Amino acid sequence: MPCREHFELTICIDDFPPAEPGQFIQVLCASPTYRTPNASKVNSEAIDVRTADAGILLRRPFSIGGLRRKGRRCEIDIMGRVVGPGTAWLNARMPGDEIDVLGPLGSPFRLPDSRAHALLIAGGVGLPPIRWLGEALSREGIATHAIFGAQTESLVPLTLTKPPTNIAEFSPCAAEFAEFGIETIITTDDGSCGVLGRVTVAMRSVIEQNPGAPLHVFACGPEPMLEAVASLAKAFELPCQVALERVMACGMGTCQSCVVKVKDDRAEDGWRYALCCSEGPVFDTNDVAWSD
Ligand SMILES: Cc1cc2nc3c(=O)[nH]c(=O)nc-3n(C[C@H](O)[C@H](O)[C@H](O)COP(=O)(O)OP(=O)(O)OC[C@H]3O[C@@H](n4cnc5c(N)ncnc54)[C@H](O)[C@@H]3O)c2cc1C
Ligand code: FES
Repeated sequence: MPCREHFELTICIDDFPPAEPGQFIQVLCASPTYRTPNASKVNSEAIDVRTADAGILLRRPFSIGGLRRKGRRCEIDIMGRVVGPGTAWLNARMPGDEIDVLGPLGSPFRLPDSRAHALLIAGGVGLPPIRWLGEALSREGIATHAIFGAQTESLVPLTLTKPPTNIAEFSPCAAEFAEFGIETIITTDDGSCGVLGRVTVAMRSVIEQNPGAPLHVFACGPEPMLEAVASLAKAFELPCQVALERVMACGMGTCQSCVVKVKDDRAEDGWRYALCCSEGPVFDTNDVAWSD
């Protein structure tokens, strides 16, 4: 992956339960025998992430970015960006290292019927669930296109097999999508790769060039991007699902640390908190109470 800040891992597990795009795993970012946090190591810049545990007990959530089964054996792809001790520890894993993983967790994307046309939108580290969803949609024979956005060219975690166009036109430029027959538009905030601007610039152009097309939008990325995508989808009355992120302590509905405000006509004030880890992470954008 030609990108300065992202890493990819393939985790091999026997007898992993059935899983679908949008679901995630909780990874213990420490050796599987590690149980006691060493306070002196927490957030220490001096920590040797290769040999030491990250000094953290709480698991970290990662979207499943691809999954292959060979008999009992399952290979799971994850992709990450180093932002703290857990991701630094994961980034330092070597082939053969053991990792303690819990999953699959959360509710997946709901696939549209075969007449739909899927528009996938990913920003930054939101790529993994969207890439796996693209594979599933193409296997179902659903026409699918993708838009990927990043701040600048060096943060595009895709293998570009040809330069992307600088106007909002799809091309088979990104190997991660092209292998499933999906053409992509790349956008960068500074115009250093593909279209200048945010993913919504390309999204608007695609919608306006295809009036009346039965587009279904699926997105994952930074929350302001998801809110902008949701707003544009609503303006054009397009169905839209997003995978949201929250800090997740347990990942399975017990700690209540991962709330998302959702609309609920039955609630006194018209809204309630949903748990991102179990009711989500995938939500219909019309259900989310954005920026409230
Ligand atoms: C369902 C789900 C799927 C995810 N999938 C991926 C993935 O595929 N690849 C990937 O790189 N990351 C993913 N994340 C985010 C990832 O879990 C965090 O980046 C990771 O937990 C950070 O751990 P850390 O110890 O390295 O950093 P920490 O020290 O825990 O955090 C570093 C900084 O990131 C912020 N942060 C931590 N977790 C989150 C979060 N969930 N949302 C927003 N900000 C956060 C913290 O507030 C802090 O500012 C996902 C999160 C969720 C909830
Ligand atoms: S992460 Fe614990 S309830 Fe959601």
